[in-house]
Amino acid sequence: MTLRRRLAAAITTLLVVTALAFAGVALSQRAYLIVQLDERLTTLSGDGRALLAVASRADAGNDAAAGLLTDVYIGVLRANGTLVTVLAPTAEPGLVPVLLGNERDAGTVTRSVAGGGERVRMIEAPLVGGRYAVVALSMATVEAASRRLLFALGLAWLAVAAAAGLVAYWVDRLGLRPIARLTAAAEQVTASGGRAPVQVQAADPDTEAGRLGSAFNAMVVTTAAGQEELRRFVADASHELRTPLTTLRGYSSLYAAGGLASEGQVADAMGRINAEASRMARIVDDLLDLTALTDRTALEVARLDLGVVVEELAADLRVRDPDRTVTVERSGATTVLADPDRIRQALTALVANAVKYSPQGSPIVLGAAQLGSGVRAWVSDRGRGIASEELPRVFDRFYRVRSASAGGGAAASTPKGSGLGLAIVAAIVSAHRGRYGVDSVLGQGSTFWLELSSSGATEIAST
Ligand SMILES: Nc1ncnc2c1ncn2[C@@H]1O[C@H](COP(=O)(O)OP(=O)(O)OP(=O)(O)O)[C@@H](O)[C@H]1O
Ligand SMILES: [Mg+2]
Repeated sequence: MTLRRRLAAAITTLLVVTALAFAGVALSQRAYLIVQLDERLTTLSGDGRALLAVASRADAGNDAAAGLLTDVYIGVLRANGTLVTVLAPTAEPGLVPVLLGNERDAGTVTRSVAGGGERVRMIEAPLVGGRYAVVALSMATVEAASRRLLFALGLAWLAVAAAAGLVAYWVDRLGLRPIARLTAAAEQVTASGGRAPVQVQAADPDTEAGRLGSAFNAMVVTTAAGQEELRRFVADASHELRTPLTTLRGYSSLYAAGGLASEGQVADAMGRINAEASRMARIVDDLLDLTALTDRTALEVARLDLGVVVEELAADLRVRDPDRTVTVERSGATTVLADPDRIRQALTALVANAVKYSPQGSPIVLGAAQLGSGVRAWVSDRGRGIASEELPRVFDRFYRVRSASAGGGAAASTPKGSGLGLAIVAAIVSAHRGRYGVDSVLGQGSTFWLELSSSGATEIAST
């Protein structure tokens, strides 16, 4: 059953139960008043003759007697069945009880109908000579009290109904309607296979439904962004892999068509095929790395001194490239909690870029320094630098600076690369909840840096 139906059922039940309870109250109050009336009648009829005497005196104008019996009817029922009024209530002087024939049962209070449809309670008390004194009390006061109570209870019930209606309206407006809208939006998103970034209308953010709506909107945006990211990833990867594949196919077709006549040509083609295959393998490895890094649990965190790491990388570089002046700058405590392999991988990629994008023999500086509660490590070169408009994109997947805009002019050749190195650096640093960036001046050199905060590392260590 829907919430809305349940709410309607609950409110209907509440109103029915309240109505029944109010009716019960009205009925029991009426019954109580009648019992009081009957008790009075029984007392009055205790001594028929004495009562008749008082009644005659009251009728004759005795104020004391009349004051006692203002609301009482007293009559004498003769043996022949005729009823002779002795005293009538002041408020209803014309009141005459209608005897139904079975009232001869003296001492039992009965109900009767008077003229005008008015009801009375009456009792008969035997007198001498087969006569009866008929004593009756009008039920007008009981009926009036009942009517008043019913009216008051009716008003109370209407108030309860109005309050219930108001509650239902608010619950519907603040809770149910937004949920219905959310359901419709979720169905739309499902129907579109998660691609349509359907948003629900903003509801009051102080309500649960409002918060649910905001959470839903945020989720839809994230999902759509994730889908788009995945789509671009696949597109980029396919595009990058297509180039080496085309080369491979080109050589195999050439070979099949007998285009590789000499042994030298075959050896040359094999060399190219091998190089392209290696490039593809490297791209695939890098892509796998990138995918793995989106999963934080893949990190194996340990204490790591970034100062030591840059020293080691500098030493390696000096061996590999003895022409360069490689300097190391260190200051402060540079130990962090991080995944040593991943951080080495990131800094190695930065060093590789510094070498690749700076002239042979130009100096390279590696550094590590304490920075507040974290540590910064950097790699500086005096290479071609990067134009400011390219800077925001260099960490993007597969992004490579076009050679024409790189320092050295159009003639400068772009070193080989797939454009994944910096994307992997970014992914590694993000997985550590750190920061990364680059400062660069076109034609003068670049400094790529990363920062790992101790708190970020502690967070990762605890997850
Ligand atoms: N130190 C640097 N100096 C000048 N330009 C740089 C430097 N480092 C990176 N770049 C520019 O940023 C681009 C992206 O670098 P990234 O390391 O991601 O890719 P890549 O070096 O081209 O290929 P890969 O590292 O995947 O083999 C490079 O193509 C280059 O144009
Ligand atoms: Mg690179």
